[in-house]
Amino acid sequence: MESEGLLPSLKQAEALLQAAEHRNAGGWVAHSRFVAQAARLIAERHPTLDPQRAFVLGLLHDLGRQTGPNQDRHILDGHDALLALGYPDAARIALTHSFVVPDLATLQGQWDGTAQEWARLGNLLAAAEMTEEDRLLQLCDTLALASGFCTVQERLVDVALRYGFNTRTPDKWRAVLTLKADFDTACGGNIYALLPDLAERLIG
Ligand SMILES: [Fe+2]
Repeated sequence: MESEGLLPSLKQAEALLQAAEHRNAGGWVAHSRFVAQAARLIAERHPTLDPQRAFVLGLLHDLGRQTGPNQDRHILDGHDALLALGYPDAARIALTHSFVVPDLATLQGQWDGTAQEWARLGNLLAAAEMTEEDRLLQLCDTLALASGFCTVQERLVDVALRYGFNTRTPDKWRAVLTLKADFDTACGGNIYALLPDLAERLIG
């Protein structure tokens, strides 16, 4: 099992997500719920991950959208809000979920914070110790649109169409594809088969 860092209960996480939706409703809330489901389903098949922790982390990974509409500053805002609430593990996931490659230059959105905040984001990322939970949430962030589960490739195209791409995007795509293959191996089969609607859509 992963480290037993303090996390909110499922009920508390749900209340945080609903309060955030009240501040800034959007497709990100449905996306977060699908990410949480994917994380739980994959964790159930994974040798070391905890399904309930995975679900809670999925619900909260984009909590920084509550200050939006916003772009990449949601990463820092989510981290800060969850840390202030006393949930360091969820705060770290809010930070690391966008960094399959741990480099600020791989972000595809606009930086809608200050230069000082950008520097702080870089320092936090450099100090973050990535665990298998971080890797799980990075993967699950690419397995869900607002409308439901999707393939990694569908999500990568969706993000590129909404936010553009840069010279580091191919590196990021390769890293995400490797991440997916790593979880297939760890879970003993294609993780797409664990996501009900997706399996039906792909396989019929
Ligand atoms: Fe997300």
